[in-house]
Amino acid sequence: TRFSYEFIQTSQPKPGVGQVTLNRPKALNALCTPLINELNEALQKYNAADDVSAIILTGSEKAFAAGADIKEMAPLTFSEAYTKSFIESWSLLTTQIRKPIIAAVSGHALGGGCELAMMCDIIYCTEKANFGQPEVKLGTIPGAGGSQRLTRAIGKSRAMELILTGKFFSGKEAADWGMAARVFPTYEALMEGTIKTAETIAGYSKVSVMACKEVVNKSQDLALRDGVEFERRVFHGLFGSEDQKIGMKAFAEKTKPEWSHQ
Ligand code: HXC
Repeated sequence: TRFSYEFIQTSQPKPGVGQVTLNRPKALNALCTPLINELNEALQKYNAADDVSAIILTGSEKAFAAGADIKEMAPLTFSEAYTKSFIESWSLLTTQIRKPIIAAVSGHALGGGCELAMMCDIIYCTEKANFGQPEVKLGTIPGAGGSQRLTRAIGKSRAMELILTGKFFSGKEAADWGMAARVFPTYEALMEGTIKTAETIAGYSKVSVMACKEVVNKSQDLALRDGVEFERRVFHGLFGSEDQKIGMKAFAEKTKPEWSHQ
């Protein structure tokens, strides 16, 4: 699946794996509206594509994304932002993309860049990745979920400190605090490790992979008892899939499952 865009690139590094690379190098991948529109279009294509099961979202070695485009936001008025629901389209990724997305973060992931990484399902990063929510320095606040997702990811006291001071934190800290799942010593190791995990996920049944993502994400919105009940309903539902039969039969027969993705 290859398409041509101005601010992003798409590629398929392995069968079943779709990659979106943010590509606005002169502005450190600052997230202007046309870039977000292209990102949404590419993700929707991957979401619908039969030959993609797992998605990678990355930037360059120097910058995942240095935030929302400050020059675009500077003149915006309240009524423009309010009536056009500025930033709302950013979260399409969390509401419409049902295949797992791994963020591979190297360099700057600031403001909206940090928020975009946190909208993804897994964060991998380099030790030197530079995260932060510096909006307070610009006279504003995180606007794409940062105050909510960072707090859930690393706890209230740490998130409050980072958001009130605008202080940056490293990839190593992000991993130590549980926000990033894995940290890598170099950019090359990051990309290799990310592709490997995406390939592993793409080797499973699409049905169970999408259901795994759905139930884990419910844990962020539901109380425990409701979440466990939701999980059990989905678990029961999967007894109606072909791939549950294929997977369990292959285990019993000591063979490799050939998924039907049904
Ligand atoms: C627009 C940006 C930008 C941004 C960098 N650039 N970040 N343009 N929006 N968020 C541009 C610079 O203006 C510059 O363009 C070029 O990219 C290179 O940046 P430099 O500053 O020269 O690079 P460097 O000295 O290496 O510093 C890197 C940096 C710094 C520390 C990341 O660029 C920086 O502080 N950027 C802003 C980070 C930030 O505050 N992010 C949060 C934004 S608010 P020129 O044309 O001069 O070469 C936000 C709100 C989210 O995200 C809420 C809703 C989503």
